[in-house]
Amino acid sequence: MSEFQAPRGIPDYFPPRSADFTRVRDTLAKAAALAGYGHIELPIFEDTALFARGVGESTDVVSKEMYTFADRGERSVTLRPEGTAGVMRAVLQHGLDRGQLPVKLCYSGPFFRYEKPQEGRYRQLQQVGVEAIGVDDPALDAEVIAIADEGYRRLGLTGYRLELASLGTAEDRPAYRELLVDFLSGLPLDEATRARAEINPLRVLDDKRPEVREMTADAPLLIDHLGEESARHFAAVRGHLDRLGVAYEINPRLVRGLDYYTKTTFEFVHDGLGAQSGIGGGGRYDGLMRQLGGKQDLSGIGFGLGVDRTVLALRAEGVAVDEPARCRVFGVPMGEAAKDRLVVIAAQLRNAGIAVDLAYGDRGLKGAMKAADRSGADFALVLGERELEDASIELKKLKTGAQERVSLDSVVEEVRLLAAEIDQDA
Ligand code: HAM
Repeated sequence: MSEFQAPRGIPDYFPPRSADFTRVRDTLAKAAALAGYGHIELPIFEDTALFARGVGESTDVVSKEMYTFADRGERSVTLRPEGTAGVMRAVLQHGLDRGQLPVKLCYSGPFFRYEKPQEGRYRQLQQVGVEAIGVDDPALDAEVIAIADEGYRRLGLTGYRLELASLGTAEDRPAYRELLVDFLSGLPLDEATRARAEINPLRVLDDKRPEVREMTADAPLLIDHLGEESARHFAAVRGHLDRLGVAYEINPRLVRGLDYYTKTTFEFVHDGLGAQSGIGGGGRYDGLMRQLGGKQDLSGIGFGLGVDRTVLALRAEGVAVDEPARCRVFGVPMGEAAKDRLVVIAAQLRNAGIAVDLAYGDRGLKGAMKAADRSGADFALVLGERELEDASIELKKLKTGAQERVSLDSVVEEVRLLAAEIDQDA
């Protein structure tokens, strides 16, 4: 074992397997770009209070999982556990909410949660996220959900479900909460569950233990106690999803781990992943802007899609992701003078947009040709003293073994034409 290991619970992605990581990230981000979401790059760490207030003190994410530390100026900062609070902070700081609405933003990158590591649950996790801020229109909820669905589908995923719920508005909830607390108080719950119920009674409805499930089978559900406006909003979202052909199941017990949600909430669940089955989730957040000090209180909706778990889902479904060849051309120099020349030819080919790698380290022809085969390149360029003398170079088509001599002066153009021919046939 090497002396240093990556921190516990943090995956490395390296070639060739990193191909599926970049494919997932880029495909999900592309689906968002096609709906007009612009890229936003956010700080990896922010003021701790932003997350405490934005995500909610009572959530596990804030109370147990944050990487919080004092910087050298004694300010408390936190590695971002999620993206929505930071996006809202940027919108407020730069007055984006005073421009064209909705503000549509997309981000991707690492987030940090001190969770108990296991397969699919990491302490550094990667998300692609979108946020659409400033307009409360059910069609926008449906758009956000449809983007995620389209992203997964473009990747070739099929074994996932969309769970949908509405959490109503801040006005809908107190009356329902009273009903639920009343119901729970009549149940023989254990100490820990009762304590959890006190912080957030909804959590008890999401408890996976069969005995708790049984006890709460007849519990009042928020979805049956939505206010008129929320109910109409939810029906409109469902109508849009139906017309878009996005399949969903209503899960009245859906509980999200962040406090800011109102109205539409959703989760994409993959059944091939065991316990860590949530491959993405999101929802609407009506009070967040005000919570973070905004003068107006504009609504927003968004999602965070888990890149790591989507990669695992693709592997679980056996969806093959092509591992792209590292290069198109592999140069094999025999001797110093040949190397000097090939280094320049490689630069010229790269300049023409063709990926080139070289055999470095003077390993001899046999080893170099093996490396050429392994690289996945279409062509090898072999240059030795003999070829140099008559200003030519050996061009070998690695897939067929066919070989020809071409002039050094025209080799860049020759390779460019051959590569274009292959691309055209493909
Ligand atoms: P979240 O449900 O906490 O939502 O995270 C979104 C996704 O990130 C999850 O569905 C999961 O795929 C992935 N994820 C979360 N934690 C881990 C982990 N420890 N290891 C691996 N993957 C993980 C949010 O973060 C919200 N900001 C989403 C959102 C945006 N809501 C509105 N706008």
